[in-house]
Amino acid sequence: MTNPPGAALTALTRQAEGLWQAVAPLLPGFSVEVLPSIDSTNTELMRRARAGDQAPTLLVALEQTAGRGRRGKGWVSRQGDSLTFSLGLPLAPRDWSGLSLAVGVSLAEHLHQQVRLKWPNDLWWQERKLGGILVETASVGERRYAVIGAGLNVATPELPPAPAVPDDASALAPVPPVGLRELGGVAAALDAGEWLAAVVPGLVRDLLVFEREGFAPFAERFAARDALAGRSLRLSDGREGEAAGVGPDGALLLRTAHGVEAVTSAEVSVRPC
Ligand code: BTN
Repeated sequence: MTNPPGAALTALTRQAEGLWQAVAPLLPGFSVEVLPSIDSTNTELMRRARAGDQAPTLLVALEQTAGRGRRGKGWVSRQGDSLTFSLGLPLAPRDWSGLSLAVGVSLAEHLHQQVRLKWPNDLWWQERKLGGILVETASVGERRYAVIGAGLNVATPELPPAPAVPDDASALAPVPPVGLRELGGVAAALDAGEWLAAVVPGLVRDLLVFEREGFAPFAERFAARDALAGRSLRLSDGREGEAAGVGPDGALLLRTAHGVEAVTSAEVSVRPC
């Protein structure tokens, strides 16, 4: 069942005040904006940061007309059926490695105990993709501004029909998506605004932990939700091996015939086989 856009916008704006109250003490200068439509919440916060506005901001949109995913892909957000937001904030960790994995850990933990992480940071439930994360940073002078974008399916999206001849024969087939409503129990009844309120304050707290302590406090938490651990993997660059967790910098460890290789490239995709 699809929510009408008016009701979906109300569901999001209803949460804005409570969210602001929960987050402002942690992030001075914090603001929340809810928009009916924008090209991309990540693109907008990156534009603002490059223009000198580096205030901590949560930008939520009902619809994106040019949503972006990882590895240059698009990201479709359907009005009322998705939760689409970006959180922008100045961050100064000593080491940035593992930031996107830490974000995945935080979101998974605040969504549902059964949500798993597929390296580097896809949110999975029962082998199906529940959501994705796109982390970008903009440097202005000495300061670096992080934009943490998340797209979560509230309802289960329909897959577009597969092309008869794939555009890119070497690409791995897409993982069928799932929506939070399929998780059942209390989760089935929550709207996008309630999911937003469930994840954002914890995400902010975890980002502040990451800023102080880096990826180390997230490593075990990632391992507890690692959907690939111990499984045979095929990478889009042709490599094959067995997943052996992640390293202290968040790199995927792949046990191959030549030993354990660290996979760091954000450009490869990884699938169990
Ligand atoms: C992926 O799995 O490829 C990552 C998808 C990230 C999508 C979110 S939706 C909010 C933010 N704005 C964007 O344009 N992208 C991210």
